[in-house]
Amino acid sequence: MKVLVIGNGGREHALAWKLLQSDKIKQVVCIPGNGGTATMKNCQNIPLALNDFAGISKFAIENAISLVVVGPEVPLAEGITDYLKSSGLRVFGPNKAGARIEASKAWAKELMVKAGVPTAKAAVFTEVTPAKEYVKSQGVPIVIKADGLAAGKGVTVAETLTQAENAIDAIFDGQFGSAGSSVVIEECLLGEEVSVLAITDGISIRPLLPAQDHKRIGEGDTGENTGGMGAYTPAPIATPELMERVQIEVLEKTITALQDQGIDYQGILYAGLMITPDGDFRVLEFNCRFGDPETQVILPMLETPLEDLMFACIEKRLGDMPPIVWKQGFSATVVAAAGGYPGNYEKNDLITGLADAEGTGARVFHAGTRLNEQDHVVTNGGRVLNITGTGRDFSQAIAQAYSGIAQIKFNGMYYRRDIGHRLKKQ
Ligand code: AMP
Ligand code: GLY
Repeated sequence: MKVLVIGNGGREHALAWKLLQSDKIKQVVCIPGNGGTATMKNCQNIPLALNDFAGISKFAIENAISLVVVGPEVPLAEGITDYLKSSGLRVFGPNKAGARIEASKAWAKELMVKAGVPTAKAAVFTEVTPAKEYVKSQGVPIVIKADGLAAGKGVTVAETLTQAENAIDAIFDGQFGSAGSSVVIEECLLGEEVSVLAITDGISIRPLLPAQDHKRIGEGDTGENTGGMGAYTPAPIATPELMERVQIEVLEKTITALQDQGIDYQGILYAGLMITPDGDFRVLEFNCRFGDPETQVILPMLETPLEDLMFACIEKRLGDMPPIVWKQGFSATVVAAAGGYPGNYEKNDLITGLADAEGTGARVFHAGTRLNEQDHVVTNGGRVLNITGTGRDFSQAIAQAYSGIAQIKFNGMYYRRDIGHRLKKQ
């Protein structure tokens, strides 16, 4: 089989890598892919734009693609699944109606409230003045969210009234484009976050291993929010008891609520949870796709062939599949970022030490990289590489990731040295 992976991040490199472990998959094509997918055996990049649905469909049909896997939220929210399915292709990822669960935080909040899914208390506003009045009535800290997709930048955890008001102004001033036509204002929850990614055929839903991401740029979880600076799985804070509750109170309730709205949701449903200090939890957000960098730690632990799960979802027979099988132990990833990220940063810097990093036993997933005209791997984004280690326990996994990253160099390279710090304290 030939599989097409849509996207160009570390998540897509990990998806392509995992799919190529299967005897049944001879080739993976990435649109547009990155330096890692360009250099991986049996993998190739095709430079088409993510919004060129017609071009992608034509390519997939002409090249007898058996399965299309969509990585990022933007094409899902724009309806790539609906488009490709109408051409007769088999696609893993929700349709446009389902992707709204990530593309509109206001819609997702309404769905959760109706379904009785535990979530932070919130109100939605389409105008500045009532939004600011609400903030004043609630006090700080408070969380201000642009309604639509904002590449992970639409959320402000405001500690002061001024910060909250500035965030509201930024949203309504159009800083996030059409994502800012309304604002969700939410109670600020304290606790530890965990990402529960689940796979669903629209009828049954099964969680993957729970993972913990590190969203802030600075050590000790300080500074600006990023797309994610490192992750590990399984996250012990998501105990079997908690996962049982998440299955019933979040995953199953949400799938039923989607069905009630006539939405046939198939793909990954990612619940971002806050575990409150009393051991309870709330959903902070839903995503309609695999997490990045969570995927780069979850897939190395997966024994069950990924394409078997994906085809079971497309064919609506996930409920007939045997339990998902996981490797024992832990997996951890550290993100090597370009200096300045999540603000401005340089591109086109030469990356060295990739083979030496893999020589340590770590796995290097490329994120913001590309091959230049001389076929050298150079930087091409803010989050550049993900170095993943695995091991019997968390310490072994993270040690392997850090020994791998120590081999790698590029101008301005930055990474957090404290990934998994909450585990080390235990
Ligand atoms: P979201 O895109 O909704 O996940 O928000 C991005 C990040 O903002 C989350 O990962 C949290 O770290 C933080 N956040 C979002 N909502 C809340 C909340 N209600 N309370 C505290 N932190 C939040
Ligand atoms: N790692 C956070 C996300 O994928 O949204």
